[in-house]
Amino acid sequence: MLKVAARLYDRIMSGVEEGGLAEWRRSLLDPLSGRVLEIGAGTGANLDRYPEQVTELVLAEPDRHMRSQLLRRVAGSEHTVEVIGSAGEDIPFPEASFDAVVATLVLCSVADQGAVLREIRRVLRPGGVFVFLEHVACVNDPDTLRWQRRIEPLWRLVSGNCHLTRSTEVAITATGFVFDSIEHEGMSRAPAIVRSTIRGTAIRQ
Ligand SMILES: C[S@@+](CC[C@H](N)C(=O)[O-])C[C@H]1O[C@@H](n2cnc3c(N)ncnc32)[C@H](O)[C@@H]1O
Repeated sequence: MLKVAARLYDRIMSGVEEGGLAEWRRSLLDPLSGRVLEIGAGTGANLDRYPEQVTELVLAEPDRHMRSQLLRRVAGSEHTVEVIGSAGEDIPFPEASFDAVVATLVLCSVADQGAVLREIRRVLRPGGVFVFLEHVACVNDPDTLRWQRRIEPLWRLVSGNCHLTRSTEVAITATGFVFDSIEHEGMSRAPAIVRSTIRGTAIRQ
């Protein structure tokens, strides 16, 4: 991610957050408890939405510019947090280490989505919860999907490898997770090419 993009990220996202994204984050994270890992934590947009029952929080962010924004936010937070620089493809914890793993707006950007999902599954305890919130391919509208396909190569270059046409729901199922809840909804105030989202929880069997 470009340094300037990391610095501007929260400002760029502010309209979408106010349009409903912030509330989605809150309602997904509020039920969590115990030991939690967030991958691709970015600037820490989720940080203040973790409830008190989360006793240990590890935030992983591989991009140094995003991580420096994250560290700034962590310094001003009430949570005790460990920040690490690991990518989701290579999570440096033993299997079954966490009660929950969180990924919000991350699986669009990772280099190897299948490998990241396998790592998430590995570090979750049996019965543990994977919390996801991701923009995805707009399969219900062929015109938008066509635009997503056209724009994707350029978009990836300017948006830190963000893909517009990933079928993340299929990939989560293919990794062996079972959905506990999943919502398909347009993200208010977002451009059409990133508006289609999925959010919910999937259980590690
Ligand atoms: C659009 S930002 C989302 C940030 C934050 N999760 C949020 O909800 O606002 C995507 C983030 O994914 C991170 N990322 C990219 N590739 C990654 C990977 N392979 N593993 C983990 N995170 C990655 C980026 O550095 C960036 O911080």
